[in-house]
Amino acid sequence: MSATLLSLTLLATSAVVRADYFSTNPLVNKDVPYDKIPYQVMTDRDDPRGFQTGYNQCNSTTENQQSMCQTMFVNHIDDFCLWAPAVAGQTIAESEGEEVAWCSKKGHGTRLIPNGAITSVQFVQTKSYIQIAGTFNQAMLGIGGTDGGELDSGGQDGEGNPMGGLVYTNSFPAANGNNATFIQARHWSFFIGNNYFCGKVCDQTGSNPQGLCNNIYDRLGCDYNAPANVQAGTFEVCKGDDMMPVGTYVGADGATSTYHQPPSESDPIDYAHLPYTPTPAPTSSCTPYASAAIFTDIANVAAVGSASAAPTGSPSGSGAPSGSKSNPTGSVKPGSPTTGSPSSGASKPAGSGSSGALAFGASVGAVMAGFAVVVAAL
Ligand SMILES: *[C@@H]1O[C@H](CO)[C@@H](O)[C@H](O)[C@H]1NC(C)=O
Ligand SMILES: *[C@@H]1O[C@H](CO)[C@@H](O)[C@H](O)[C@H]1NC(C)=O
Repeated sequence: MSATLLSLTLLATSAVVRADYFSTNPLVNKDVPYDKIPYQVMTDRDDPRGFQTGYNQCNSTTENQQSMCQTMFVNHIDDFCLWAPAVAGQTIAESEGEEVAWCSKKGHGTRLIPNGAITSVQFVQTKSYIQIAGTFNQAMLGIGGTDGGELDSGGQDGEGNPMGGLVYTNSFPAANGNNATFIQARHWSFFIGNNYFCGKVCDQTGSNPQGLCNNIYDRLGCDYNAPANVQAGTFEVCKGDDMMPVGTYVGADGATSTYHQPPSESDPIDYAHLPYTPTPAPTSSCTPYASAAIFTDIANVAAVGSASAAPTGSPSGSGAPSGSKSNPTGSVKPGSPTTGSPSSGASKPAGSGSSGALAFGASVGAVMAGFAVVVAAL
C-alpha cells in the first residue's frame, strides 16, 4: 500500500463512518447449533447498511464457484475457509459486509479456494482458540487491490462482516459430552489482504473468547491480532499457548496494560511508537504437511478469471516462496511493524471497517459509498 493512499483513505473515512445504528440482536449473541442453522441468520431488517447478501444453509446444490454461502469452517489445516468477495475484483474493504466462504475442502456448500492459491499455512490450536495464518495469492480468489481488512463477528452495527457470517469448527472439544460435529464460534476475526491471511476462532467455553478474538483492533492487522510464525512454503499444525488478549501487553514495569488504537481514523497509527511489539505465543509439537497432500479436493479448481483449469504440477511448489525450514527465525511477515514500515508493502492486512469504518485501503469509490450510506442514515 502506498502511504499516500493510506492517509488519503484514513482521512476520507474519519468523520463519516461511525453510524449510530447498532443491532438489538447482534450476531455475536446468536447461539446457532449446527443442526439449527437458519436460511439467513441476520434478522434485523432496519439496518441502514442493508441486509445479509448470502445465506447460511449451504449444501451440495450451493457448492459451486458462484455460491453465496456465508457459513464457513476452520477445522484443520486441510479443511478451512477464508472470506473473500462474491464479486471478482472487489477489495476486502469494498465487500466486507458481503464476503462469502471459500473453502479448501468440498462438502461445505461453498466456493472452493483455487489450486495453488495457498502458499503457506500455520494452524495453531490452543486451549481457547484456533488460529490459522498464512500466505496466499489473493488475486486467485478474486480479491482485488493489495490492502486488506478485518472480517469478524462484530462489525460496526453488530451484524458481523460479512453480515450474517457464521463460523464453525470440529476442532473444539465436544461440548456437553456429545460429539457434536461442528461447534459454532461466536467470537472470531480474520484479517485478509496483502496476500496474507490470519484468523482466530475462539471457543465460547474457553478463556475470554471476547478478549482473545477481540474485534476492536481492526487497524492493527495480523501482527497484533493473531501473531504467528508462518514459514515460507511451509504447512504446519502446532499446539500453542493462548496469547494475551488482543491489545494487552506486559510493560517494562511488569504490569499488564491495555493499548487502544487511535479512535479516529484520521489519526495515523505510528507503528514505530506503539507501546508494545507483539510476539507469537509459544508453540510446540509442530507437524509439517505437504500441500499436495492436504489440498487434494481443490487440485482442479481454477483461479478466478482464468479460462482453464489451474496449472497441474506440484501444488507445494507452485507459487510458493521457496522453503525456509533451515531458517527458523525467517518467518513470513513482510510489512510487519517489527520488521519495517507498515507501508512497505507485503503481507500485513491492517485496518478495516469492522468496528466502524471502511478499511483503509478502501478505494475512493468505497469511501464514497460509505459516505452515501451514512448520509442516508442521518
Ligand atoms: C440447500 O441450500 C439452499 C440455500 O440455502 C436452500 O435453499 C435449499 O433448501 C437447500 N436444500 C436442501 C435440500 O436442504
Ligand atoms: C464421543 O467420541 C468418543 C471418541 O470417538 C467416544 O469414545 C465417545 O463414546 C463419544 N461420546 C458420545 C456421547 O457419543
